Amino acid sequence: MNLKGRNFLKLLDYTPEEILYLVDLAAELKEKKKQGILTLDMHKGKNVALIFEKTSTRTRCSFEVAAHDLGIGTTYLDPSGSQIGKKESIADTARVLGSMYEGIEYRGFGQEIVEELAKYAGVPVWNGLTNEFHPTQMLADVLTIKEKLGRIKGVKLTYMGDARYNMGNSLMVVCAKLGMHFTACTTKKYFPDAALVKECEEIAKETGATITLTEDVEAGTRGADVIYTDVWVSMGEPDSIWEERIRELSPYQVNSKVMENARPEAIFMHCLPAFHDLKTKIGKEMGEKFGITEMEVTDEVFESSQSVVFEEAENRMHTIKAVMAATL
Ligand code: CP
Ligand code: NVA
Repeated sequence: MNLKGRNFLKLLDYTPEEILYLVDLAAELKEKKKQGILTLDMHKGKNVALIFEKTSTRTRCSFEVAAHDLGIGTTYLDPSGSQIGKKESIADTARVLGSMYEGIEYRGFGQEIVEELAKYAGVPVWNGLTNEFHPTQMLADVLTIKEKLGRIKGVKLTYMGDARYNMGNSLMVVCAKLGMHFTACTTKKYFPDAALVKECEEIAKETGATITLTEDVEAGTRGADVIYTDVWVSMGEPDSIWEERIRELSPYQVNSKVMENARPEAIFMHCLPAFHDLKTKIGKEMGEKFGITEMEVTDEVFESSQSVVFEEAENRMHTIKAVMAATL
């Protein structure tokens, strides 16, 4: 498998074999790290630029730690600290950074921005989250599922909440690619985009995957191996939509009733950050405003033994390392 020079913009661009190769490479790199085997020589002397037009904890730290472990230097460009988009076009930024760095990570808004960056950079570009897709998160999720359930193909994953944004879209794509059974369990309004559903259904025909969209919580979560959710309001969306989201998505909260309806060995996953208590500024604010103590997932489920969210978060680093190791 040779992925040298490839961009990593969305999983639709990758074959199932390539995706699984990256997951296996991540598992190998993880094992090496646990054993204290250094990988500093893999890409020693290279440099990468990390553009973040939206904030981040996991993705930024994963890129920085993974780069360091591979002998790569990093430059972090924060949401306000560069000329990107304000004084300088994406095409110009791409050509400037492409002349100084061996790779570029981009987190921001529309998918077309990261695609444009890749078109002009002349070096690999990695998508660290756009409105439409979050592909590095998918590799971490697949690695976590493989570690926890011992299999990928045939796994039944139910996603609850806002299924028409980056996480719902990306999970539907990765499930289609890898022969998993994807269910979006939410109100119709939050179903993934019809054209993307169609594209995934075509892929699913080849891989044995299935795509189900349902508003029925009981049917949608019954016998699931993985229950997955994400925040109800994503980065870049206006604060004014909180009320509507809480009202419309509360019936799709992951709680103990949902987990009991899934398989007894089912795991709970969340890309994080999560609103499962009042210990965050926004969580507290919304809690006071709407009289709730938790949102997309109850604290009980989040803290339960079925929750694998922190292992999932750790796997962000190992899988992002695999992406850089393979494409540089
Ligand atoms: N899951 C995820 O992408 O987390 P961050 O926003 O902290 O990077
Ligand atoms: N849907 C969330 C994912 C965060 C990792 C967002 O875009 O904010």
